[in-house]
Amino acid sequence: MKFSRITGTGSHLPPKRVTNAQFAEDLAARGIETSDTWIVERTGIHARHFAEPDVASSDLAVLAAREALASAGVQASEIDLIIVATSTPDMVFPSAACLVQQKLGVHGCAAFDVQAVCSGFVYALTVADSMIRTGSANKALVIGAEVFSRILDFNDRTTCVLFGDGAGAVVLEASDTPGILASELHADGRHVDILCVPGHVSGGKALGDPLLKMDGPAVFKLAVGVLEQVARSVLQKAGKTDADIDWLIPHQANIRIMQGTAKKLKLPMDKLIVTVDEHGNTSAASIPLALDAAVRSGKIKRGDTLMLEGVGGGFTWGAVLLDF
Ligand code: ACO
Repeated sequence: MKFSRITGTGSHLPPKRVTNAQFAEDLAARGIETSDTWIVERTGIHARHFAEPDVASSDLAVLAAREALASAGVQASEIDLIIVATSTPDMVFPSAACLVQQKLGVHGCAAFDVQAVCSGFVYALTVADSMIRTGSANKALVIGAEVFSRILDFNDRTTCVLFGDGAGAVVLEASDTPGILASELHADGRHVDILCVPGHVSGGKALGDPLLKMDGPAVFKLAVGVLEQVARSVLQKAGKTDADIDWLIPHQANIRIMQGTAKKLKLPMDKLIVTVDEHGNTSAASIPLALDAAVRSGKIKRGDTLMLEGVGGGFTWGAVLLDF
């Protein structure tokens, strides 16, 4: 039986780091009041990174991908599948994945984007795992990359302080041993309005509102509930229990959602990987960014069992349980 296994991780953050204090100062200059204290207390975020205007998702993605390839000891030419999870692709089409393929100097392999907002990486990893297990691919690059700064309304303090830019990547390879143990994906389109960018391109113009809108408290409530349910369901599928999880890597949106999820899963806080403090919410990039940071810091080691959990606009959610 064929399985898939993560053999390398990588990430990239744009160099421009904006602290809460700097952000508050910038907003104050436009008559908008916020503070480091409010942001830290409500979200756990201390800073985020923003890409320069000429840097696109595929630029961040390719840098993360190169790191993941190096850590897996795999050449770009060996990759036979590229999936990029993003809600902020460089252009309407072609996909960010095709642009990444071009920038890596390879051609011919399947390449496509997955759009599931902050659940995007968990969706992409699940698709890549299925394609490897069914023999359509052997070595995949799975990337989450975002420039959310492009779709933020910097006049809306309830959303603009929450997000950041970045990319994370993994190399997923066919293996005789798992690897990915179980996964599950969900969506509920009844909640499209609580988190959306409602604008669209038509007749050469952006029509409607092309900036992020969020009902924060509604998202918060839904997120904690679905993250517990999906984690339990995936554990059951894999024949495991809470106690088997070495590290929980939830989508890094808000420290309170993450702590709430860990508590419901009866996991001590020191089993929670947290990067939201330094990255903010980087949407589809947040899980692979957190994974790579924890691998490079030596927290996550080979053989550890990881629960990855995504939740985001759509409303979408999902989880992947894996042996690293
Ligand atoms: N600075 C200062 N005050 C603020 C700010 C700010 N940046 N933003 C909001 N406030 C004020 C509000 O105006 C409100 O004031 P009022 O009481 O006078 O009306 C007060 O703070 C409380 O606002 P709430 O929205 O009730 O605050 P809450 O505690 O719910 O926190 C937050 C808001 C952080 C957005 C929270 O609801 C949250 O994190 N929700 C989940 C968000 C999330 O995870 N989104 C990402 C999902 S993933 C994806 O797909 C993108």
